[in-house]
Amino acid sequence: MKKDWIPVLLFATTGLVVAKECISAYRQRQRDDEAYAAWLTTHQPDNVWRGCSSSQIPTSTESGRLIQYGHDLIANTAQYLGPQGSVAQISNGMNCQNCHLQAGTVPYGNNFGKVYATYPLFRARNNGVQTIYDRVKDCFERSLNGHAPDTGSREMQAIYAYIKWLGEDVPQGAKPKGTSIMKLPYLDRGASPATGQLVYNEKCSSCHGKNGEGLPNPVGPGYSYPPLWGPHSYNDGAGLYRLSNFAGFVYNNMPLGTDYHQPHLSEAEAWDVAAFVNSRPRPHLDQGRDWKVVAKKPVDFPFKPYADTFSEQQHKFGPFQPIKDAQPITK
Ligand code: HEC
Ligand code: HEC
Repeated sequence: MKKDWIPVLLFATTGLVVAKECISAYRQRQRDDEAYAAWLTTHQPDNVWRGCSSSQIPTSTESGRLIQYGHDLIANTAQYLGPQGSVAQISNGMNCQNCHLQAGTVPYGNNFGKVYATYPLFRARNNGVQTIYDRVKDCFERSLNGHAPDTGSREMQAIYAYIKWLGEDVPQGAKPKGTSIMKLPYLDRGASPATGQLVYNEKCSSCHGKNGEGLPNPVGPGYSYPPLWGPHSYNDGAGLYRLSNFAGFVYNNMPLGTDYHQPHLSEAEAWDVAAFVNSRPRPHLDQGRDWKVVAKKPVDFPFKPYADTFSEQQHKFGPFQPIKDAQPITK
């Protein structure tokens, strides 16, 4: 008789152990769920646009190889088109991706997410409709202080193909969150080049150099750290020469390794360092043909003439809100 109890006892003890395990696993899961819910309240998934990695380019086809070449031109512009470029010598030694990070794929890293979906578009700077080719040409002439390859060249076709490949899933006309550069709130004072110099010396000069000259790549064309001013930098017609673009770009991306989840600079530091860097000497571009409709100039466009009575100094450094407030509401 006694023997019959053994399996029953064994069964009951195992049952108890299993039940205990189940309960503790259940409790653990409950704790995990609570922790996850708490985490979610501070880290809502934010649906920012992120570009595909170049490893996903289908390089087995001719059109895929063109896209790949476009990627390589954007990542290593200097190698192909810089002062010692293998294809042509038509730009300043910088790479497109020095400013369009990781070939234009990084959220708030001045990426190309909305380009294919929004061009051709009307741009007041040119007082006309701009295609993607025109826009790329602008960056060659201003940001790279040089000249663009012809629209029909394999190089321009490749850059177009890459930008199209990156952005063709974006619905026409849409501007997904995280594309281009973030607009920071205006400061309630003018940005200060003097304070910005302190920020620069502490947080930027170790890479970009004491005199903003950058650090040339020791083993090839281009830069390990690109220049921020001086003869090899972007010219005064470039997008970064406008304070809001510079401040928004560095706030989310600099010092190198920063991403938009964890900015290292305060907003004020970003505006002030922008004011410092953009007060240093750089190549000049004759912009006499830009902005035919003067009233369309952005508040931080740093060159006269203006449709309002604010000084060139205030249009360059701010405070910008009073300028904005004085604009007609119809704009
Ligand atoms: C010195 C920095 C810099 C470099 C180098 C640079 N760009 Fe740009 N680019 C900008 C800025 C700033 C903008 C304007 C962003 C804005 O207005 O939101 C811009 C805008 C663009 C746009 C339009 C983006 C949009 O969303 O409308 C395209 C396309 C573009 N650049 C392509 C290129 C290509 C191709 C190269 C290399 C041949 C290049 N850029 C090099 C700074 C740069
Ligand atoms: C650890 C090195 C490092 C530090 C520190 C750093 N940068 Fe950069 N910066 C880079 C590199 C590298 C790039 C080019 C990114 C690429 O090609 O992927 C870059 C690109 C830039 C660009 C666009 C390209 C150009 O040359 O115009 C700007 C503007 C810039 N940095 C500003 C700053 C500012 C302002 C600071 C200080 C707040 C700073 N950086 C700190 C390494 C650094």
